Amino acid sequence: MDTKTKYLGLDIDSPIVVGSCGLTNDINNLVKMEQAGAGAVIVKSVFEEQIIYDIKRNLSMMAPTDAYGMSYEYVASHVSDDSLGKHFELIKEAKKRLHIPVVGSINCYSFENWMTYTQRFQEAGCDALELNMAILPYETTLSNEDVDRLFSNIINTLRKSVSIPISIKVSQNFTDMANFMQRLSWMNINGITMFNKSLNVDIDIDKMELTHAPSLSNPDDIFNTLRWVAILSKKLRCDISASTGVHSPADVVKMLLAGAGTVQVVSCLYKNGVDYLRTLNDGLRKWMEEKGFESLSQFRGNMAVKPNEEASMFFRTQFMKHFAQI
Ligand SMILES: Cc1cc2nc3c(=O)[nH]c(=O)nc-3n(C[C@H](O)[C@H](O)[C@H](O)COP(=O)(O)O)c2cc1C
Repeated sequence: MDTKTKYLGLDIDSPIVVGSCGLTNDINNLVKMEQAGAGAVIVKSVFEEQIIYDIKRNLSMMAPTDAYGMSYEYVASHVSDDSLGKHFELIKEAKKRLHIPVVGSINCYSFENWMTYTQRFQEAGCDALELNMAILPYETTLSNEDVDRLFSNIINTLRKSVSIPISIKVSQNFTDMANFMQRLSWMNINGITMFNKSLNVDIDIDKMELTHAPSLSNPDDIFNTLRWVAILSKKLRCDISASTGVHSPADVVKMLLAGAGTVQVVSCLYKNGVDYLRTLNDGLRKWMEEKGFESLSQFRGNMAVKPNEEASMFFRTQFMKHFAQI
């Protein structure tokens, strides 16, 4: 029995991938993740805002007259190189010490920086790239067509500028989720990560200040991802990496049954430690053994909505079974 599979076209021994987070920003953790059986690791994202912040902080230390013109250009490019350099050092070190795929992760908002960072990640030697395009439709002026155009412009341009596999990590909010994910999968990308869990805003009613909701997911957060993976896994032209709410070996099995190619974990590693990857892998193998499966392909997608089946009818039937006992 084996759990070998492919992730973005790369061979991996386990479908359990460590998602991008603070834990993957440290070489010792990355080594431990490989030892505990991670199929691949996605390093902490480079956020464009973080680089801009570093640039601004450095500029604030300059004499006001220097903060313009040539000096600005010079400092901006120097600081940006320095901030990115730290990420690239981690990737290079990880490539030296690990055998599993090391995936870079980028989260930008300006078109130029998507381009620059993507090419530089490829040069740094990562095996693939996850582009966190968790663009949320916050603006009343932003229409469906605008979001569409934004995604296709960025993806089409990036696809031409790098040759390594690309995966797009998307948020949970789209008006036309099924249709949009399908069109995304036709854009010559290698995978879609469903979904990014955006940090929710909360309000402290004593201080009357904005604060943020807990950043870690709970086991109940799995259901939204599970539903969309089941609906879309047979209808997309690329693999799905399932993310958000995977906390137990049973959750890994559910995502694979729904048709996920790989399953990403983050919160459960924060809660239980990096070694918890062993529990997840052992649990998956134990379940396969009990059910008599020798490879993932024997059961992957067995519980997905079929290619010619209407998802709305499928879910309506489940609803009627439960509430009307039909
Ligand atoms: C502390 C923390 C840091 C994270 N940092 C990133 C990041 O840098 N880039 C990214 O794409 N996702 C980031 N995420 C989101 C995770 O990759 C993942 O999508 C999310 O936590 C849902 O998965 P989970 O339920 O397994 O936690 C972060 C999550 C947490 C909890």
